[in-house]
Amino acid sequence: MLRPVSYVPVVTVVALMGFAVLVHGQCSTDDELECYIALINMTSDGFVRLQRIFATTSYPGYTVQRLIVANSASGAFLQRIGQLSKSIIYIQYNEQVFLLPEGNELTYVIITNAPTLRFFIAGRNDQLESLRIENSLLNVIPSTLAQLTQLQLLQINRSPLALLPLDTLAKNPSLLYVELLENRIAKIIPPTDPGAVLSVQQLSLSSNWIVHLDLGVFERAKNLNFLDLRNNRLLTITTKVSLPKLSSLFLDGNRLSSFDLPSLQTPLLHTLSLSANNFTEMLSQWEDKSELRYVSFDTNRIRTFDFATVRPLKKLASISLTENMIQTVFASPPVVELPLLQGIYLSGNALDKFNVNGTELPKVSWITLDKNRLTIVPPVFRKYPNVSLSLINNPIRCASLEQYRDKLNAYRITVDVAWHDYICPSLSFKLLDIDICCVG
Ligand SMILES: *[C@@H]1O[C@H](CO)[C@@H](O)[C@H](O)[C@H]1NC(C)=O
Ligand SMILES: *[C@@H]1O[C@H](CO)[C@@H](O)[C@H](O)[C@H]1NC(C)=O
Ligand SMILES: *[C@@H]1O[C@H](CO)[C@@H](O)[C@H](O)[C@H]1NC(C)=O
Ligand SMILES: *[C@@H]1O[C@H](CO)[C@@H](O)[C@H](O)[C@H]1NC(C)=O
Repeated sequence: MLRPVSYVPVVTVVALMGFAVLVHGQCSTDDELECYIALINMTSDGFVRLQRIFATTSYPGYTVQRLIVANSASGAFLQRIGQLSKSIIYIQYNEQVFLLPEGNELTYVIITNAPTLRFFIAGRNDQLESLRIENSLLNVIPSTLAQLTQLQLLQINRSPLALLPLDTLAKNPSLLYVELLENRIAKIIPPTDPGAVLSVQQLSLSSNWIVHLDLGVFERAKNLNFLDLRNNRLLTITTKVSLPKLSSLFLDGNRLSSFDLPSLQTPLLHTLSLSANNFTEMLSQWEDKSELRYVSFDTNRIRTFDFATVRPLKKLASISLTENMIQTVFASPPVVELPLLQGIYLSGNALDKFNVNGTELPKVSWITLDKNRLTIVPPVFRKYPNVSLSLINNPIRCASLEQYRDKLNAYRITVDVAWHDYICPSLSFKLLDIDICCVG
């Protein structure tokens, strides 16, 4: 359960039946952070008891295990609670409608489980900053969202939303963070109003049902800096758009096999993640993506990697190509200089040799080559004496590995070793007391 960061009282409503005894109107049980109240009966003395508890105690949170209300656990009840608390978390909400009355003073409302909730209706509200609804039956973004003039964070997760009409987000000038995870969104509809402006900076749409996406729908979201489309069903993506603030783009877990880099105008792009897709080759044409630091193409079907493809990425810090089918890594001339590259991740490929010829990587400090087919220690130390090389699960010959006793000692090379019940499958040699596994 969420704890508030400041000492603003939170009222939590749970539908569990609690039989603890409420002693003298105080907590039935408590801990440092929370006062548990077994029963509040709003149709009799409930509000007076809450007032008394709030007046005589100061816990960061209050949990009401069973709440009895006349009509609804939202609506009028929220108005009264708004006098005592800044925020409320419903652990279980069992009604079809949630009503946030006009002028309500709560700043955040969280509903974590609302299995019958179909409608969220808000009156004019200049206080609410954060709204989270999870596990509901909401199938559209509530149209009264526009009434929440101060809303900054909207989360509707694990609900059956099917469409994302961006018009519904364009009416909240303060709305910076939007998360709509694990819905059924298959379509994003661009704003229809030509003057629409989207304030949103972070948009997470992971685990939805999008198959084809034109990033052009986000044209009016000029402040968008984080876009998460992981685990959709994307087969195609059109990238002809200018997103001047976009720094992180996550497209992992889709079915993409192509991505038009030159069309995407994102001068501040810092992280691009395309892991678990269907790429058979590494993208080239990175020319105007000079701010990129992190690029990942893990778990695709890539067969070769030429360092020259990422030559323009002078700020690249990490490139990850694990779990592909890479058989060769090379660097087409002229020499590929990547002045800030620190990590090269190539575990789980089909490499039987690896070298760093044709590269100039002054900052390289970590190369992982686990789960490949290497039979000799790759010749990287002459050029990069300080690099750490991970070679676990490769059939490295003893004669090659034994030449690197100093690197093994200095933990610059990591390989399989005999340990507890693990016995080297083939041969081994001793280094101090350790059996280093190798192949004859
Ligand atoms: C709540 O209060 C009403 C009015 O006093 C009473 O009829 C009802 O039985 C109470 N409910 C519970 C569960 O105590
Ligand atoms: C990946 O692409 C190939 C064709 O290149 C296709 O046959 C296969 O079904 C695709 N896989 C997925 C998961 O989309
Ligand atoms: C890499 O460079 C070394 C030394 O310059 C050379 O001996 C070796 O043949 C080169 N390897 C390849 C695959 O070009
Ligand atoms: C390797 O590390 C040592 C000690 O930290 C340092 O003096 C040296 O310059 C480094 N060499 C390279 C090529 O980075």
